[in-house]
Amino acid sequence: MTVSENNFALTLFSDYESSARSYCRNFPAVFHRASGCYLYDQHDNAWLDFLSCAGAVNYGHNPVPLKDALIAYLAADGIQAALDMHSVAKAEFITAFNTIILQPRKLDYKMQFTSPTGTSVVESAIKLARKVKNRTNVVAFTNGFHGMSNTALGLTGNRDNRQNAVDAHVFRLPYDGYLDGLDTIAYFEKLLTDNSSGMDIPAAVILETVQGEGGINVASKTWLQRLHALLQRHDILLIIDDIQAGCGRTGHFFSFEFAGIQPDMVCLSKSLSGYGLPFSLLLFKPQWDQWNPGEDNGTFRGNTSAFVTAKAALEHYWRDDTLSLHIFRQEQVVVQWLEEIKLRFPHFIKQTRGRGLFQGIELYSPELAKKITQRCFAEKMIVERAGDRDQVIKIMPSLTIPEDTLVAGLMILERAMEDCFSEAPATSQAVTQDILCPTGGVQ
Ligand SMILES: Cc1ncc(COP(=O)(O)O)c(C=O)c1O
Repeated sequence: MTVSENNFALTLFSDYESSARSYCRNFPAVFHRASGCYLYDQHDNAWLDFLSCAGAVNYGHNPVPLKDALIAYLAADGIQAALDMHSVAKAEFITAFNTIILQPRKLDYKMQFTSPTGTSVVESAIKLARKVKNRTNVVAFTNGFHGMSNTALGLTGNRDNRQNAVDAHVFRLPYDGYLDGLDTIAYFEKLLTDNSSGMDIPAAVILETVQGEGGINVASKTWLQRLHALLQRHDILLIIDDIQAGCGRTGHFFSFEFAGIQPDMVCLSKSLSGYGLPFSLLLFKPQWDQWNPGEDNGTFRGNTSAFVTAKAALEHYWRDDTLSLHIFRQEQVVVQWLEEIKLRFPHFIKQTRGRGLFQGIELYSPELAKKITQRCFAEKMIVERAGDRDQVIKIMPSLTIPEDTLVAGLMILERAMEDCFSEAPATSQAVTQDILCPTGGVQ
């Protein structure tokens, strides 16, 4: 792509684009092209990407094997709009997903291609769960994020996101580790067995195994296993929202694999196409396939170009464990660095946590978290925040990132921390937070 003489001013967007816009406010540049771990702006400056479009480009930008497959498909006039009619592209994706992902993991799931965003696959999952269980109530967790439609917002915890009239039939439970000493599974069991607890028996429970927008909160293996067993005892469906944590982000293709559980339903989107194309997939155990024909309809179900790139992604990255091993090695690099910076800056860093290349640094001060990510942006690196007060710096590079690029990014982040912490007033430090929040703050 040529570097154009473009010189678009940022005011073009503020003048004409809705104020609903968000990421562009934190990263005020005009981007033009992208390749691997880098975005390039309209003046061809390179920006190191530690956000990966919130998990929508896990394999980096424009990965070559996927691009080649897409170009070949377009050049051959491959069918694009097809509603949900059969296509060769869809057949090839289904075959690849079965043989490369499901069968080796002994997972028996039907596939539903829902409308193409994350929030729409969540909609379909909840709609189906309510139908097959003939119950309305659904359980979601504190700090969970599931999208922006009314149903998904009802499941989402954050007050800034929630609106009037969100789905009200949601019972919220504390996520793993929400409150020191609280056994949330025992509490849930008590609610289910106490006929006067006030909780209607839910059709389903939906959760992320690592909460992305909620601040990289990590559910433990035993917590997930106990939850799964509890739900089986009480005939309640388990829905894993793997929209952000899935497609390799935690090291395995699915984020729940490490716990050895088999959810009733799995929501996939974001990096499923591997190419940043809108594409979503709901997986469910065959006995839950109780839809009537057309009951969950939509024009754009199964983006045909995405079938092509998704199949190429499966074949290129998931046929063996090369990518997983790379992710786990890079995870070690990040975790070791996180331990070092935690020791260096104990008054500013409250906790570090994560799985795979989905890591977070929780600061005591949200203002400092903001300042650090702004400092990184000034150094041409894109890194985002998450958490209830945006106090968690989110480390989410491409899963294919070379180790030296990863380390270079961590060094930019470390220098930004050094600068911001050295300039920080004492009020940004742990001591003040402890006075305000004796239990160590709200997660
Ligand atoms: C876990 C999770 N679920 C659902 C969604 C919603 O996806 P979308 O923005 O494509 O609607 C997101 C988006 O960040 C997410 O992280």
